[in-house]
Amino acid sequence: MSLVLGIETSCDECSASVVRTSAPASTGTTYEPLSTSTFSQIELHIPFGGVVPEVASRNHLEQIEPIVFDAMKKAGVDFNALDGIAVTNRPGLIGALLVGVTAAKAVAYARKKPLIPVHHLEGHLMSVFLNQPKKIEFPAVFLLVSGGHTNLHWIEKEPVEWTLDVLEKSLIGRSTDDAAGEAFDKTAKVMGFPYPGGKWIDQNSKGGDPKAFAFPRGLANVGKNKDSLDFSFSGLKTAVMLQVQQLQTEGTFEAARADLCASIQEAILDSLLTKTLLLAKQKPTRSLVIVGGVSANSKLRARMANESPVPVYYPELQYCTDNGAMIAAAGALRLSQGHGLQSNEFLRLNAYAI
Ligand code: KG4
Ligand code: ZN
Repeated sequence: MSLVLGIETSCDECSASVVRTSAPASTGTTYEPLSTSTFSQIELHIPFGGVVPEVASRNHLEQIEPIVFDAMKKAGVDFNALDGIAVTNRPGLIGALLVGVTAAKAVAYARKKPLIPVHHLEGHLMSVFLNQPKKIEFPAVFLLVSGGHTNLHWIEKEPVEWTLDVLEKSLIGRSTDDAAGEAFDKTAKVMGFPYPGGKWIDQNSKGGDPKAFAFPRGLANVGKNKDSLDFSFSGLKTAVMLQVQQLQTEGTFEAARADLCASIQEAILDSLLTKTLLLAKQKPTRSLVIVGGVSANSKLRARMANESPVPVYYPELQYCTDNGAMIAAAGALRLSQGHGLQSNEFLRLNAYAI
């Protein structure tokens, strides 16, 4: 058994979690969060319509200590019982990352524990293993859909470690412009919803007609883009803006709200599903895994249940958006592979925006 504290402060969530893994952490291991304590800064950023980096880092500074202590208390674990401290050190807002990295160094130094730097995307990919009762069969297609990334991976064998090398070599498609979450957020803003807008579009599309408005599907799989596994959402915001303006002029915007939301959502989901299912057809695939904030989308889950030929796995809802548990899980696996840093190494550890 190993116990790892995970700390995540890369953007607007200050989160800490204690994860217990069956010993020794390796492939096929269970990852059980004993606690997760998160302070979401969403309310703070709403007046600005997006995350303000300086506001984010100052707030992390206020929250990090109570959040870490709360996670430890809820888990009923003493710092001395930890096997290591994992922390996101890239990519993200540099000031925000530095708060988490510095706090993790302080705990690791004071308690003479190894520190494990974790890549944020590695955390998202591993979030599906938290409390996962089933064995996910490989080869698997992983779709990572968050506010910053839309990445499509084909992973042949379950990795012994989810290193950056694994992430880069398995990357088969990605967004050429906006991320899927960003497309939800930007179009939601045009619709007058607060940031982040994905969940508002999701909720307000209920009962709407997804075919009411024909919004563009970037890099649609026809003609020269027939086999494209890349995504493009850049034309969507303008199309939605023009449509909203027209409806406002006609005085029918309010009445069309549900239809608009359903149509925006359908355009984004059509792209995500088409490319993901195309990859699953092109390459031998036994499972499909969808992670990141957008994997919380209810229509995405409903459509995948109908359209995927192989079993589809998601993180539990609380682990779709940024959280310390996914960082602790990734850290536990790295620690078991001998990648914990001792204080003579980790005091020099830095944070990186990319
Ligand atoms: O993974 P995440 O918490 O942060 C990043 O690493 O970027 O993802 C946040 C994104 C936001 O763009 C948000 O609008 C989107 O996830 N999101 C959703 C839903 N819940 C969150 N998008 C669509 N439907 C949802 N239910
Ligand atoms: Zn994230």
